[in-house]
Amino acid sequence: MEITKICCIGAGYVGGPTMAVIAQKCPNIKVTVVDLNEQRIKDWNDPNTDNIPIYEPGLSEIVAEARGRNLFFSTEVEKAIDEAQVIFISVNTPTKTYGKGKGMAADLKYIELCARQIAKVAKQNKIVVEKSTLPVRTAEAIKSILDNTGNGVQFQILSNPEFLAEGTAVTDLLNPDRILIGGDTTTEGQEAINALVNVYANWVEKDKILTTNVWSSELSKLTANAFLAQRISSINAMSELCEKTGADVSEVAKAIGMDSRIGAKFLKASVGFGGSCFQKDILNLVYIAKSYGLNEVADYWEQVIIMNDHQKRRFSNKIVQTLYNTVADKKITFLGWAFKKDTNDTRESAAIYVADDLINEQAKISVYDPKVQRHKMLSDLDYLETRTKEENSNALTIFENPYESCKGAHAIAVLTEWDEFITYDWQKIYDSMRKPAFLFDGRNILNAKELEKIGFIYKGIGS
Ligand code: UDX
Ligand code: ADP
Repeated sequence: MEITKICCIGAGYVGGPTMAVIAQKCPNIKVTVVDLNEQRIKDWNDPNTDNIPIYEPGLSEIVAEARGRNLFFSTEVEKAIDEAQVIFISVNTPTKTYGKGKGMAADLKYIELCARQIAKVAKQNKIVVEKSTLPVRTAEAIKSILDNTGNGVQFQILSNPEFLAEGTAVTDLLNPDRILIGGDTTTEGQEAINALVNVYANWVEKDKILTTNVWSSELSKLTANAFLAQRISSINAMSELCEKTGADVSEVAKAIGMDSRIGAKFLKASVGFGGSCFQKDILNLVYIAKSYGLNEVADYWEQVIIMNDHQKRRFSNKIVQTLYNTVADKKITFLGWAFKKDTNDTRESAAIYVADDLINEQAKISVYDPKVQRHKMLSDLDYLETRTKEENSNALTIFENPYESCKGAHAIAVLTEWDEFITYDWQKIYDSMRKPAFLFDGRNILNAKELEKIGFIYKGIGS
């Protein structure tokens, strides 16, 4: 089967960039991205592609090239489902906030809604592709809904997890390490796999396209994220030991990273990992392990999260302790709110938790982030439900200009590794601050020696 029409449900951080790249690389395939969120679709259709709702380097150019040619953004979910041969499900699967598995299991209500909608609309056989990260054996649930509520047409369910990292989504999509496609071992299953392989083969070498059964594919995604997050928690655990012993965690990371068995990537000690995937996927893994009675397996992976929470708390505690054990009414400026550089996404960003801790100590937080919108920062804090909206908006002041945000501050905390922070006029910032001027570099991106020469009391992570 040759694929000429694709629909993607969910125009978020995964669906948007992925479909833009498929459309750019496959001009003969009509790609329609649909979402229930009207504002989001309106933003994707903004005549000026610099205003699209997701910031990713290189994305606006790709959207400018393909949009209106073979890439479309729409709220007409049913029409797009009806037309397409392949439907990608890229809706969000947040951690459940209620009921059984609260705080751990993935909330599959959006996925189920999609499956029911597909079943209702489909009048021809379709391939349904799980793109969102899903707990193992979700495909079974989707299949059951489709087969039992559908109009008697055939569905093939594929798992095609996304390995792109935010901030580098476009290059990750253009040059992936691998593409993973899981499907049924039946003839129909293999035909569906091949159809999707041929889409990716338009720009990815065939030997990088890996095909497996559905469950292996689903579990590989959780495993990859668990392994990556584990490396960060491991180096963060060492960062605390370094601070006690006089070792320097960057030196340790470099020394171990040169061991080819370990490798150099994902060894940057930080205030803690954030993002929509790591925490959610590990909690998911822990929940699945527990549900099979594998308590040691569950505890092993849960420790990665415990270490990450500890690292965030340790950072806020260090700020309080260093500022003479009180931050009440002190101005503390955050440089960065996003969970990493080059994205406007803030999900699970360490900044949220550090701010929450410091506001509990009655600090006044000022924030500057080059890409995150003001309402996002406030809603991130409101979501924690630690205090009222009004209290949050009184405690958080958001600036458009970094120099203004630092004026009169007792301390600066770097929460995101944005490149622009490195190029600032730090002497000018120092001169505008209260003395002694403290700088807590939660990402180890600034030059400690130069800052100390200026007069800053500099504290990085793990040295
Ligand atoms: C991750 C996976 O990398 C990606 O393959 C998967 O599809 C989705 O989840 P993402 O969350 O977008 O991607 O970003 P990633 O680059 O993995 O960073 C996650 C967090 O870890 C960020 O907060 C980052 O700052 C932090 N990090 C990363 C460190 O603290 N140290 C490191 O060495 C690397
Ligand atoms: P991700 O990082 O996984 O892409 P996002 O939250 O950025 O997550 O994007 C998911 C998108 O899916 C949101 O824009 C949301 O409005 C959309 N969505 C959720 N459920 C449905 C649905 N049933 N139909 C259409 N869109 C949906």
